Amino acid sequence: MRYRPSDVRAAKYRAAGIEPPAIDQLPLRTKLPPVIVTRMTKGGVGKTSISVNVAAAMAMMGYRVLMIDADPQASASNLLGIETAIYETDILHIGHFLKKPSNAPDEDLPGAIKHIYEGGFLDLIPADITLAETDASLVAVLSSHTRAELFLNRNSTFFAQHYDVIVVDTAPGTTPVGLAFSFAAKQSGKVLTVVEPEGSCLRALDSLASNLAEIKAITGANIGMEVVINKYHPSLKHVRESMGFLYSKYGSMLNDSIIPQFSGFARQLSAAAKEDAGPLVEFESISIGAAAVIDVAKSLIHSYGITMPGLPAGVE
Ligand SMILES: Nc1ncnc2c1ncn2[C@@H]1O[C@H](COP(=O)(O)OP(=O)(O)OP(=O)(O)O)[C@@H](O)[C@H]1O
Ligand SMILES: [Mg+2]
Repeated sequence: MRYRPSDVRAAKYRAAGIEPPAIDQLPLRTKLPPVIVTRMTKGGVGKTSISVNVAAAMAMMGYRVLMIDADPQASASNLLGIETAIYETDILHIGHFLKKPSNAPDEDLPGAIKHIYEGGFLDLIPADITLAETDASLVAVLSSHTRAELFLNRNSTFFAQHYDVIVVDTAPGTTPVGLAFSFAAKQSGKVLTVVEPEGSCLRALDSLASNLAEIKAITGANIGMEVVINKYHPSLKHVRESMGFLYSKYGSMLNDSIIPQFSGFARQLSAAAKEDAGPLVEFESISIGAAAVIDVAKSLIHSYGITMPGLPAGVE
């Protein structure tokens, strides 16, 4: 990294004519910061690649980001350098918190958080495969869809003090954990959806839309979608046709940026490059893939109303 997130943050305060506050003297935010939840019924579309890179891009822009890995595959955790391949592990995953029906703040929450960037700019609640047990146990829990909201609300003071945004990477399909986070996304009014412009992915998008409509019918929660198109490759006929479908049916929900098919996304996790694997925005920061992700991150800062405490919205 050529500059530190804290330098960028300080520059933004100075540009607004405010002396940058020390981290322990920040003006207090009183409510939960915006929560970006990625959802897609189909696997392998790029949810993790987009959400981790958006989180890293926002951190590099000086926002304090908490990433929650809500997928037992733990791909976001691995991409951020958390090792899950060894049997002994100290990972306290999100399932531990979702299983508790409590209203009292979680005293063990700080212990679950791993610091990825210095200064608290990118923190992570990692996952591992045992998170799958939570899906199984939530199935039998009454109103399990409210558990992520309950977790966020009971710890809202902690989150408000430490973070400007929370980014949640969920598993593909419609798992109880993913459903609970979709329901929690009602405070932002939408989930972040990633689609590839190809037929089965478009049908999966229709399924997600009906899933959200069902949530609305049952609970009254109005949750829309912001759709990011990923793996765009204009020379392929089915891609061009799918783009037409996306614009006609989901036009108003599409993010303006389109992420191209770009090999750097695959290199992020390459075992051969393990030493310098990590988010594309960090390791190939001037690539076309990174530029597209940074555009998405900027637009989400506006559409989710992400701010730094004490600064007016929209200061860049
Ligand atoms: N724009 C892109 N261009 C090329 N490859 C990409 C792009 N985006 C993602 N990929 C690759 O596609 C694969 C799936 O990506 P990723 O793991 O981010 O998807 P996902 O939706 O999170 O998957 P899952 O459903 O398993 O959680 C990875 O190998 C990733 O490197
Ligand atoms: Mg994933």
